Amino acid sequence: MNMPPNAAANPIAPPAGSAMNRRDFVWGVATASYQIEGAIDADGRLPSIWDTFCATPGKVLRGETGALACDHYHRWESDVDLIADLGVDAYRLSIAWPRVMHADGRPNQAGLDFYKRLLDRLAERGVKCMATLYHWDLPQHLEDRGGWLNRDTAYRFADYADLVSRELSGRVNAYATLNEPWCSAFLGYGNGHHAPGLANGRYATQAMHHLLLAHGLALAPLAANDPQAQRGIVANVGRGSTLGDSAADHEAARLFELQHNDWVLQPLLKGSYPQDLFKLWPGTEPLVLDGDLATISGPLDFLGINYYFRSTVQSDGAHGYTEVTRPDVERTQMGWEVYPQGLEDLLRGFHTSYPNLPPIYITENGMSSDDRVVNGPNGPRVDDAQRQSFLQRHFAAISRAIDAGVDVRGYYIWSLMDNFEWAFGYERRFGLVHVDYATQQRTLKDSALLFQHYLAQRKG
Ligand code: NOJ
Repeated sequence: MNMPPNAAANPIAPPAGSAMNRRDFVWGVATASYQIEGAIDADGRLPSIWDTFCATPGKVLRGETGALACDHYHRWESDVDLIADLGVDAYRLSIAWPRVMHADGRPNQAGLDFYKRLLDRLAERGVKCMATLYHWDLPQHLEDRGGWLNRDTAYRFADYADLVSRELSGRVNAYATLNEPWCSAFLGYGNGHHAPGLANGRYATQAMHHLLLAHGLALAPLAANDPQAQRGIVANVGRGSTLGDSAADHEAARLFELQHNDWVLQPLLKGSYPQDLFKLWPGTEPLVLDGDLATISGPLDFLGINYYFRSTVQSDGAHGYTEVTRPDVERTQMGWEVYPQGLEDLLRGFHTSYPNLPPIYITENGMSSDDRVVNGPNGPRVDDAQRQSFLQRHFAAISRAIDAGVDVRGYYIWSLMDNFEWAFGYERRFGLVHVDYATQQRTLKDSALLFQHYLAQRKG
């Protein structure tokens, strides 16, 4: 095994005695279909809203697209070897809806076969799989009929979940229905930064309702078709903080967290929307039919939490908040503040405010940096010191939350490899593995080598 210099001084590992060192704690890496697969026209794949968005001038930095990405659709076999050789227990991937289902609802066998081969190879290499069903690549033909603003899309999603879980039954260890519905609803329909690029507060809340309904409707077919597999959903969560200490500032931070976290978690875990959301955004109550919230709050085997940074807010002088820049703090290439304590705070807060909180997996955590391959005497090397320290500090924060009683069962690093970072294109590198997009060469960064070293030691 290659080891980066100073491995002993700069380990990546949870603190000694942490529950994360236990053999049953699940360690993984994560990706998503549109961000890595490429091959957008292969084997009958249909266009998705991200193909359309990328083709719209001004939406993605430098006009980049997911057309080739990491070419994982053709390199899946060696990529599985890369994953397995890291020594992880599990891999979180997403299934591309436009690959596996024709527009009339029939299965697309060629697309399904890709995932069957991939999952079989993972199993052969001893890697478990969490499959996200929706990581933002809505088939464009559904967007043409209103997308997530159309209630019918929720029923089409349940059909898709039914199809996938019948076809892949026995191959998937855990299904996550949706990835980050907040991003789909707010960035996709509320401010237009993501596909489909619409910007209307009323749209955001209605899209969210239909996304959550889609999740709830999918739970029954998943359980019926693949009863061994766990069922959950993945939410991005945000920590709000203030510079000042006034009551108005604290209220601003509360509203920030309500908008980012409880808008999603409260309907899922309590079967209601936080009414203060509609004071923050007057006139945006979604149309909710009888029974919807009962469907949405169906039992979950796990909750996936994605955490990246903390935000700083202040009162806007009226009933809301505005984001401000906190000076003199460590940031990543995205400009995001590095704040591991926020993850501990949020986990402990959810544990208190949601008494029926299911077991938690950290389904994404990680950072982007401007990583470069340097050819040295011992071969190519990527020194990503900030990522090593970032991971180490977040492991410690999770360990503290576990010590405080939060049931965290696993952790997935975002991401396995550098990939298409949505509206930011390829410049932002989140991978443990560096990707040279001109050659598709993969190079393990120092953080990957250190993580591999930790996982090997843990297995003994
Ligand atoms: C969350 C998303 O699920 C993922 O697709 C994205 O790349 C990371 N955050 C980093 O922004």
